[in-house]
Amino acid sequence: MKLKSEVVTLKNVNNNTTELLLGKNKNVLFVTGNFHKFNEVRSVLSLRGIAVGMLRMKGKETQSDNINEIAQDSAIDAFNKCHIPLIVEDAGLFIDALEGFPGPYSAYVYKTIQNRGILKLMENLQNRKATFCSAIVFYSQKTGPQLFEGKTEGEITLTERNGDGNSGFGFDPIFQPMDSEKTFAEMPLEEKNYISHRAKAVNKFAKWYSNICDNL
Ligand code: IMP
Repeated sequence: MKLKSEVVTLKNVNNNTTELLLGKNKNVLFVTGNFHKFNEVRSVLSLRGIAVGMLRMKGKETQSDNINEIAQDSAIDAFNKCHIPLIVEDAGLFIDALEGFPGPYSAYVYKTIQNRGILKLMENLQNRKATFCSAIVFYSQKTGPQLFEGKTEGEITLTERNGDGNSGFGFDPIFQPMDSEKTFAEMPLEEKNYISHRAKAVNKFAKWYSNICDNL
C-alpha cells in the first residue's frame, strides 16, 4: 500500500481534507512547522500503515515548565481552529547538571545560544547526562486530549558532531544516546527513529490510534 503524505495549511483544511489528501487508509494530521519532526513522524507512522499530513498553522505559545501541558494546550488550540482530529508534539532536552535546563525552553535556547552555547555552559562539567523527552497529544471531539510520551537518555558530547551534515536538527549534534557511539546527527533517520524519544511516543500513539481510528 502506498501511503500519501502532504503539507496542508489552515486555509485548505475542512472535514474532507484528510481523506482527500491522504486517501481512505488510516491517516492523521500533524500540526507542526518543523519538516525534520514531520519526516521522523511520517517515517514511523508509515511503518504502521498510517499516512500523515503536515498541517502548518500559527499556534498558541503556551508558557509552562511542563512539555505535556504545552503539547496539550497546543492540541486544544489547534483543534479549536480547524475542528478535525490532529496530533501535536512538544519536545525538550533536559540536562541533569543544569537542573533540567533547557527542558521546556529548548526552542528558545536553541534559537538564541544554540549548541555552542550549551557546550559552553557545560565546559568542565563531568556529569554530562541528559534526557530527550517528547510529548505527543492527539485531540478529537470524541476522545478529547490523549497524551503519549517518549524518553531517550544519553549524554551531551564535548563537541558538536554532525556526521555527513545531512541528518538531524536542533540539538542532535551534541546528544549521544546511551549505548550508542554516534550522536543523533551522525545517524541516518531510520537509526534515530529506532531509539529516539519522538519515535517512542509516536509508536505508542500509533498502537492506540490503530485500534480507535475507525470509530472517530
Ligand atoms: P519544540 O518546542 O518541540 O519544537 O522543540 C524544542 C527545541 O528542541 C527545538 O527547537 C529543537 O531545537 C529541539 N529539539 C526537539 N526535538 C529534537 C530532536 O529530536 N533532536 C534535536 N533537537 C530537538
